[in-house]
Amino acid sequence: MVPCNYGGYADTLLVKATDVFPIPAGKSFEEAAAMTVNYLTAYLALIEQGNLREGRRVLIHGAAGGVGIAAAQISKIYGAEVFGTASAAKHDAVRKEGVDHPIDYRNEDFEAVVKKVTGGRGVHVALDPIGGVNFAKSYRSLAVGGKLIVYGFSAAAPGKSRQLLSLAWHWLRTPSFSPFELMSSNRGVIGLHLGRMTGETEVLKAAPTTLVGWWTEGRIRPVVGASYPAEDAAKAHAFIQDRGNTGKVVLTFP
Ligand SMILES: NC(=O)c1ccc[n+]([C@@H]2O[C@H](COP(=O)([O-])OP(=O)(O)OC[C@H]3O[C@@H](n4cnc5c(N)ncnc54)[C@H](OP(=O)(O)O)[C@@H]3O)[C@@H](O)[C@H]2O)c1
Repeated sequence: MVPCNYGGYADTLLVKATDVFPIPAGKSFEEAAAMTVNYLTAYLALIEQGNLREGRRVLIHGAAGGVGIAAAQISKIYGAEVFGTASAAKHDAVRKEGVDHPIDYRNEDFEAVVKKVTGGRGVHVALDPIGGVNFAKSYRSLAVGGKLIVYGFSAAAPGKSRQLLSLAWHWLRTPSFSPFELMSSNRGVIGLHLGRMTGETEVLKAAPTTLVGWWTEGRIRPVVGASYPAEDAAKAHAFIQDRGNTGKVVLTFP
């Protein structure tokens, strides 16, 4: 179960036999597509990097997306209290996946909500694929000993067309983290890029083994938000950029 980096929009892909897992009986290809990268990313962020444990508090951005839902479900396996940002229309859906405190980030300041609900203590792990000023706010939402895991920059792509001004704006507002500040506040910032983990065979074998086991037992349930035939890939991207999806958007091949 290794990310293919590029060339994934294809009906045939050449990979090493050791890098694939059989799809458990009764599960569909669509579910499998919603499983791999999402759950591996969420697992590595929460468990390997975030050291999540029972009773800890987690903040998940993009909680209604493929990685976000995976992270909420895994957090619940570990008995964590979950905060998640999502558009208001998706709150009922994310609650069902394990988000205890959905936050409408368009109308609420998530940093203020986290501080209020936790009595100022903050969260132990924050998963942030949004970027820009969001990284700074997520960092300030951390508890003592907390970790911010950064793994994306969705803020740079707010709409269907390329928006260079918006990209520059968010880039300029991206915080720099000083080692002295990290040391004195007992917090950490960790990057995650699955595509750059090729060759990390130990972790890329162990984590999927656990995940496929949970999937087979029904402890995790990949959510397919929508599926499009491969020739409609552009429509699938537009659907995502319109924030239409709850769960993973997948492409199907005849
Ligand atoms: N570093 C890695 O290894 C790695 C691996 C996988 C994914 N990622 C990154 O993680 C992020 C989420 O991936 P995903 O597969 O979960 O995506 P997804 O299924 O498309 O979901 C993204 C969710 O984020 C929210 N969102 C917030 N800002 C957005 C924006 N500017 N554009 C689109 N959606 C936005 C949307 O919901 P609302 O309606 O609630 O806004 C949506 O539900 C992406 O940035 C992706 O590149 C990184």
